[in-house]
Amino acid sequence: MHRTRFPQPVQFDRKKRSAHCDVPGVQSGRGGGYVKPGPLARLPRRDGIKPHAMTYWSHRYPAELIDVVQLTGGERVVIRPVLPQDQELLVRFFHELSPAARCRRFMHPVNEPSLKILRQFTQVDYVTHVALIAEIFADGRETVIGEARYVRTVEQSSAEVSLSVAERWQRKGLAKLMLSKLEYGAAAGGVRRIIGETFADNEKMMSLARRAGFVISDCVRGVVRLEKTLTMQDHKRPCEASA
Ligand SMILES: CC(C)(COP(=O)(O)OP(=O)(O)OC[C@H]1O[C@@H](n2cnc3c(N)ncnc32)[C@H](O)[C@@H]1OP(=O)(O)O)[C@@H](O)C(=O)NCCC(=O)NCCS
Repeated sequence: MHRTRFPQPVQFDRKKRSAHCDVPGVQSGRGGGYVKPGPLARLPRRDGIKPHAMTYWSHRYPAELIDVVQLTGGERVVIRPVLPQDQELLVRFFHELSPAARCRRFMHPVNEPSLKILRQFTQVDYVTHVALIAEIFADGRETVIGEARYVRTVEQSSAEVSLSVAERWQRKGLAKLMLSKLEYGAAAGGVRRIIGETFADNEKMMSLARRAGFVISDCVRGVVRLEKTLTMQDHKRPCEASA
């Protein structure tokens, strides 16, 4: 759904105080967050260059969006706001999506998202752009199995949503859970309307959108517009979630 419009990457302020939250590698607190070295620090050396440990202060890391959810098959998955050091994990995620899924996600054929897009996807400001990833921990490593985000439109009270889930993890309710979490975050942040676009033949997205209460507009040149007005209900935290 997002094709070109993204907020600019933000600088992280290293001087704020920190508080603790439950996800390993992340510390965050009211009004600020200290983010310990993440997955990139644990990646093997490439070309003899040691990946440098990254430490970030994030003003607005929305720790309240961190959750452990249960999918329809019983699998437990962590959903959390994305961090700058998740870039390598997202490279793997998009690489492993089928070309058709990548095309549906970006609304045009994409081989590998560019470095610029990956930066925009991971260095988010959590005001105009809120992004979540879903991940599992297996064989000693983190694997991203889904990503979802919204970017506010120029008028600010609306936001455009987009998401994708790894094929092996689809039809387990993960997109539904990520979408409801995004809606909660958006409503709490003052967004009144969620919009999106998808190909009219994207049955999975159409079905997801319909069930999530989006109004689907007529098809124009193969693309439909999705729209949902957020209600007071969306301000409530999605209950300790399972699909
Ligand atoms: C669209 C997409 C995100 C759905 O992810 P998902 O995790 O499989 O979705 P969920 O399991 O949460 O399913 C939500 C609903 O979608 C529908 N759905 C899921 N898979 C479906 C399928 N194969 N066929 C028809 N409907 C399907 C179901 O109605 C489901 O509702 P239910 O939970 O009541 O059964 C996923 O298919 C995807 O990543 N597609 C490629 C990228 C893309 O198209 N993104 C959307 C445009 S930005």
